[in-house]
Amino acid sequence: MEKENVDQLMNLCSRRGIIIPSFKIYGELAGFYDYGPIGLSIKSNLKSIWRKTFVKGLGSLEIESTIVGSDKVYQASGHINTFTDPILKCTKCGSTYRADKLLEEFFEKQKNYDLAKKVGHMTSDELQELVSKYNISCPKCKGEFSKITAFNLMMKTEIGPTGGTIGYLRPETAQGIFVDFKELYKSYNFKLPIGIAQEGKVFRNEISPRQILIRMREFSQMELEYFFNPEKADELPLIENQKVNDEFLNKKIYLLTREDQEKGEEAKKVSLSEALELKLIPNKIFSYMIYKESLILDLFGINEDLTRFRILMADELPHYSKGNIDLEIKINGKYEEVAGNAYRSDFDLSNHSRMSNTDMAVLDGGKSVLPHVIEVSFGLDRLFWAVLSNNLYKDEKRGWEVLMLNKSIQPFQYAVYPLQKDDSLIQKSIEAQRILQEKGYNVFYKETGSIGKRYAKADEIGIGKCVTIDYNTLEDGTVTIRDISDASQVRVKLNDIGN
Ligand code: GAP
Repeated sequence: MEKENVDQLMNLCSRRGIIIPSFKIYGELAGFYDYGPIGLSIKSNLKSIWRKTFVKGLGSLEIESTIVGSDKVYQASGHINTFTDPILKCTKCGSTYRADKLLEEFFEKQKNYDLAKKVGHMTSDELQELVSKYNISCPKCKGEFSKITAFNLMMKTEIGPTGGTIGYLRPETAQGIFVDFKELYKSYNFKLPIGIAQEGKVFRNEISPRQILIRMREFSQMELEYFFNPEKADELPLIENQKVNDEFLNKKIYLLTREDQEKGEEAKKVSLSEALELKLIPNKIFSYMIYKESLILDLFGINEDLTRFRILMADELPHYSKGNIDLEIKINGKYEEVAGNAYRSDFDLSNHSRMSNTDMAVLDGGKSVLPHVIEVSFGLDRLFWAVLSNNLYKDEKRGWEVLMLNKSIQPFQYAVYPLQKDDSLIQKSIEAQRILQEKGYNVFYKETGSIGKRYAKADEIGIGKCVTIDYNTLEDGTVTIRDISDASQVRVKLNDIGN
């Protein structure tokens, strides 16, 4: 079976309503997508796996904070002053572009890959110099650009009837966790280390949304903030026995070091213990989070050969960071950041502490400590896109596309099909559905269309198994079960389905 490309995936998504451009009937507004029932089901399954791994699996607390935040929160976090991208505006047609991305595409087209790679690390002044030097003009109308300025990505809103109070739609779920930290500590009386997680919608007024779900203006994050005593960054009370400890430290990942990036080399496989010894990963807690990510990738059905953990270059780090490593997954031949891992130190807690006059320190072993934080921040839509784009195949033998998802993320584990629209077959099909539902499966049901077309639809939307009820079922109580993996069919007793 051959892997399909992103255009074919997009085609499937619109044919089957997996994702839909928002407000499509009114014309599209870039950067917004709705999920149809199949897409939503896959997305919810990804969320459940994340929850099992990073919330329940780490004994973390999960919260839901508000989407609208007060301007004080985002002044303290630094978003109001620094959450910007460089923007270029055409003086003739008014089109706007994110300067670094426009230059990256420009130099890629010119096959100047060296500069294409470098622009993402440049300051606005350096980008401006390139615009002038290469005489770069608006791709749409060839008009001249005005000077590069900083564009803030926060979406602003007004709170209350008089409009005097400014609010912002959250650009990350993390700040809700930091702001509530002390209240949670008091109410739940927890001890360090502790993870606090949140999943939900975030908003960024991206200058140029692109590649469907890769750069959106409204998207979902699944974030974990892991709070710990900085003197105990290498202690992991979570690891209950030596076997788990060894497994974790021996785990090999594809790691892309700064040196590799400077030399233009590929990521190399190293064990987490080696990476720790070489101080490529800041501490043991950080490396344990990377271990958890490597395990979760398997559950998401992403082959590790398509992944790498990239250590961010010094000029990419926020000033407060003590280390950032991105989890990148190949999507359509290009590595894309799907999760950001960051050692945020005590930056957020100390800023909120200062701004709100609230002491955010807590007691650890009788001593007052301002906890440090390791953050694991997944972009759910990018993850969804990475999963779908790496698991859609064209099966020449079947003559259609097959979405080969891991069992745990299939939108339906079973489809039930009566061979024909016949009351006696429909009756048995209802019974088959009930048996499967009682065993905890999600079941898809359809009684119209040829059985071949219904198998094709099941394969395209990633349904694991199809149960077909035919006239033999009425005689001997057996049904046909067809498996998506190889389209093989076996007959089993109706009561045994789902075992
Ligand atoms: N709290 C940290 C934080 O928000 P980030 O790297 O800006 O870090 C985390 O975002 C993840 O969110 C990224 O790894 C990416 O998967 C996803 N993400 C960021 N911007 C996005 C966008 N415009 N559209 C879709 N996903 C995005």
